[in-house]
Amino acid sequence: MKSLKEAYKNYFKVGAAVSAFWLDEAAETVKAHFDTVTAENEMKYNGLHSVKYLHSDGELHPETKRMLCHPAEYTTPEGADKIYSFAKSSGIGVRGHTLAWHSSYPFGYFEKLTPDELYSTLNEHFRYVSERYPDCFCWDVVNEAVDDKHGLFLRDTVYKDKFGEDYLVKLYKLARKHFPNAELICNDYNEFVPEKREKIVCLLKILMEAGVVDGVGCQAHIGLHTLDGDGFDNMRRTYEEYARLGLKIHVTEMDVNTLESENPTSPDKPKEVITHEVAEVYSKMFAILREYKDAIESVTFWGVSDKYSWLNSFRNKNHVPVYPLLFDENFRPKEAFERIVEF
Ligand code: GLA
Repeated sequence: MKSLKEAYKNYFKVGAAVSAFWLDEAAETVKAHFDTVTAENEMKYNGLHSVKYLHSDGELHPETKRMLCHPAEYTTPEGADKIYSFAKSSGIGVRGHTLAWHSSYPFGYFEKLTPDELYSTLNEHFRYVSERYPDCFCWDVVNEAVDDKHGLFLRDTVYKDKFGEDYLVKLYKLARKHFPNAELICNDYNEFVPEKREKIVCLLKILMEAGVVDGVGCQAHIGLHTLDGDGFDNMRRTYEEYARLGLKIHVTEMDVNTLESENPTSPDKPKEVITHEVAEVYSKMFAILREYKDAIESVTFWGVSDKYSWLNSFRNKNHVPVYPLLFDENFRPKEAFERIVEF
């Protein structure tokens, strides 16, 4: 059977998120099948700058109720270094992910800074990243900026709080200064939900007007039944609208969650049945992705093997096994892999 990257060489780049923790185990599979990698967490702020968390006996931030932590006391970029050098030495491209995300910064510390201080901290962070990882072909600059709640536009974050509503233009300009040759991407999730899509399009137009964005990231975290009904049509409509804007589309974090809580109609199904259903979803998604190959630059899966999917980790409190990816726990290709390679 063909490799994934061979099957899609005339369509788009195919990529996988990888983690330094299991990269060695996945290395052969990644080299055989993928054109690009994304660091799952290692290139985020808290992945790069070791942030010393105060544990249960520590202080909680009075508003966010999250643990306070100190800013970079030591820098620990080993994980990101490992991924980056693996990719470079294997001829694999790197998608940079992500420069400013509301879930990865020293909680409590950024809040205490003045806008100028936060700006210079971010300037320093972007500079550091650009010098250490100069060769990422694109960067998800701000991640998940748009609010999911009805009627609200931008999510409340420390960045919005300090820099105001037009903070994204400010941060994309800063990214342009440090990453003049990388495509700057605006990445978000639930892109197939019509109201969310409209808000993302609105944000993209603001960034395009300012001349600071090159592409749009569609996370594509879906569940087995997320796209039932008109979901696949909505996904198609999203690509259609983004393509019409003239932006490059990156599908950035695709996986198919099989958890029962996300799929209440599928209790107690045998693994083979679930595996087949996952394959059906991937097969339909890829038929749509192939239609939009002229606009789509890359399609990335959020992981390689089910064994190490984030959906099998901290989020999965009941430890129900989840089978969201193309390779099984032994890195053997699953039915989903076969279906999207043989089209
Ligand atoms: C979001 C982020 C990713 C990753 C996933 C879950 O989608 O963009 O970086 O953290 O959540 O693993």
